[in-house]
Amino acid sequence: MTYSNTDFNNKTILITGGAGFIGSNLAFYFQDNYPDSRVVVFDCFRSEVTFANGNLQSFGHYKNLIDFTGDVVCGNINSKPDLALLDDYKFDYMFHQAAISDTRVYDQEIVMQTNVNSFYDLLNKAKNDDAVMVYASSAATYGSLPSPQTVGIENPENPYGFSKYMMDQIAYRYSRENPDMTIVGLKFFNVYGPREYYKAKTSSMVIQLGHQILDGKAPKLFEGSDQILRDFINIEDVIQANIKACNPKQNGTYNVGTSNPRSFQDIADILQHELGTDLGTDYIPNPYDGYQMHTQADISTTQTNLGFEPVVSLEVGIKAYIPDIKRLHGTDIS
Ligand SMILES: NC(=O)c1ccc[n+]([C@@H]2O[C@H](COP(=O)([O-])OP(=O)(O)OC[C@H]3O[C@@H](n4cnc5c(N)ncnc54)[C@H](O)[C@@H]3O)[C@@H](O)[C@H]2O)c1
Repeated sequence: MTYSNTDFNNKTILITGGAGFIGSNLAFYFQDNYPDSRVVVFDCFRSEVTFANGNLQSFGHYKNLIDFTGDVVCGNINSKPDLALLDDYKFDYMFHQAAISDTRVYDQEIVMQTNVNSFYDLLNKAKNDDAVMVYASSAATYGSLPSPQTVGIENPENPYGFSKYMMDQIAYRYSRENPDMTIVGLKFFNVYGPREYYKAKTSSMVIQLGHQILDGKAPKLFEGSDQILRDFINIEDVIQANIKACNPKQNGTYNVGTSNPRSFQDIADILQHELGTDLGTDYIPNPYDGYQMHTQADISTTQTNLGFEPVVSLEVGIKAYIPDIKRLHGTDIS
């Protein structure tokens, strides 16, 4: 299934972070639908290095790319010599997904270096190549602002959210200075779906709760989880947004959510329904101050300017995901 009339055949496409969750799904979208496209994945892949919070520095995993037939360039976006490896290519499209995607990394230096500095280099590469640049921003740019979250009213509350906010500011300025370029930022809300497993503790609650249930345990939720709502968006709709962002002359940043927030309790209940269990819920106190209680993407400009229309409901998305959740249950994550 394709999401636009743009023909990506005979185009050269860069996907930074292509060994990660969203990037690898994008890589397969092009491979499956445009067999004559040339897809280049650039990713540092995971090493054993962890942050102070115990999580890995990068989550790119070769298992996300099994059956991928394009080019893979292993490199770090923080390294100019690594980025220079991309000079062997002239890109038509660049999908910039590589980042420290872990919102709970508080080392500001490494977050800013990785997420922001590299963006200048990649924008310059896009300009030189005359490539369309679609990059991943985030709903974290909104911090705990009340719903609906609307582009242009941001208030990041952690280094990650700030880094994505700065990318948006850089993109606006770069767009103004280079009016011929197409530069689109996508503020993803809570994405879930296949190929997220290797994000471990930072993967969505859909797969984490699914695996708890498959362990025979009641899903663990914060007290009051029926009142904690998020805008969960399926990976298929995220791919749709990336593809529709390639239509020229829609520069700007856009929310990518469903605008239909659902509770964590809903996720647990849908999973139990699909898995045929009745384990109840294990409620635990919420340890976080200032925990975001409600997100809801205002997607009006995404709909109007990009023609984006989310189609996958939480029920449909989880049902389709169940075989993968089962397949991965208990498998080695290293
Ligand atoms: N998944 C979500 O819910 C969500 C929500 C909002 C924004 N985003 C953004 O979308 C993008 C993709 O997210 P994801 O969920 O696929 O995360 P992910 O962690 O699975 O993917 C990021 C990829 O970038 C790679 N990477 C990290 N640092 C790198 C570096 N220095 N050099 C080269 N590669 C590096 C990782 O190895 C990984 O493969 C990220 O920019 C993330 O911030 C994701």
